[in-house]
Amino acid sequence: MDNIKEFNAKSAFPYALGFIGCGNMAYAIVSGLIKAKLFEETSIIVSGTKMESFERWTHFNVAKTLKNKEVVEKSQITFLCVKPNVANAIANSMGKDVTTSPNQTFVSILAGKSLEDIKDIFKNLQHLNFIRAMPNTPLMVCAGATALTADDVRSESSLRNFEVIKSIFKTLGIVEIVDENKFHAITGLSGSGPAYIYIMIEALSDAGVKQGLPRDLATKFAAQTVFGASKTLLETGLHPGQAKDQVTSAGGTTIYGLHELEKGRIRDSLINAVEAATKRSEEMSKYVAPMNIFISK
Ligand SMILES: NC(=O)c1ccc[n+]([C@@H]2O[C@H](COP(=O)([O-])OP(=O)(O)OC[C@H]3O[C@@H](n4cnc5c(N)ncnc54)[C@H](OP(=O)(O)O)[C@@H]3O)[C@@H](O)[C@H]2O)c1
Repeated sequence: MDNIKEFNAKSAFPYALGFIGCGNMAYAIVSGLIKAKLFEETSIIVSGTKMESFERWTHFNVAKTLKNKEVVEKSQITFLCVKPNVANAIANSMGKDVTTSPNQTFVSILAGKSLEDIKDIFKNLQHLNFIRAMPNTPLMVCAGATALTADDVRSESSLRNFEVIKSIFKTLGIVEIVDENKFHAITGLSGSGPAYIYIMIEALSDAGVKQGLPRDLATKFAAQTVFGASKTLLETGLHPGQAKDQVTSAGGTTIYGLHELEKGRIRDSLINAVEAATKRSEEMSKYVAPMNIFISK
């Protein structure tokens, strides 16, 4: 992507990208970017609370640090990838004398923390532009779904960074700019959604095993069926109901299966799952971090 090449060429910072937190999401984003050959491994820095946390990162030649402040000061774009309840403590531990510039951007992926919350928590990072993203883990295989929002992307450098961030998430799947008031619902639907699908695949696999299929074949066919159905909808633009009707012949096998799913209230369960996760995201936005968490600077 041209804007990323230009961004890398012009960057005056030691690292193009920094990640505070080295857990599942940071790992998923970095893995996807490295797989897509979008950034050099050496242009990325990642922080954690202890060196053992970097165990699964050893095959990546990224810089590793226990100092979050170093990530912010040395990266053009910093991604905040920690659990929401440690954000306050991380900001406090960096202190007030953090060197930042308006050429830098700070992207929070925290569930339930608004842009205003993040700006307030990280008010010590005075000059940075703030962006909020809600990605999901399939971005690890470049099939993610990410919502982005920003309220004050005006300067040339912040616009350039914003375009790069969009390109990053586009490379890792699909990206949409969404009003921030939709973020709780996005969190409940696509942020948590992969887990809903994983248990469906696991259940379909169990079903295949019950019907006499070997486990590996059952799991592979269950996962490929979900993948194929998703790809069909995304590529043809068919309404899901229309696509379902195409598989469902009169008096055939599928309608018998569908009837059982309806008896088990599958639609009701999925709607309830997204509603519960959306409400949980709203609750988490009001949660205050406990003070007894170990925090690195
Ligand atoms: N998982 C999802 O599907 C998903 C989807 C969308 C958004 N999110 C959001 O993404 C964020 C991260 O989720 P996750 O699943 O990646 O969590 P995770 O796997 O638990 O990772 C959290 C990371 O934060 C690190 N950390 C904790 N305290 C720290 C500190 N003081 N300084 C530096 N690093 C610190 C931990 O490092 P140690 O291992 O060293 O303790 C750990 O690597 C959450 O806010 C979540 O809301 C998650």
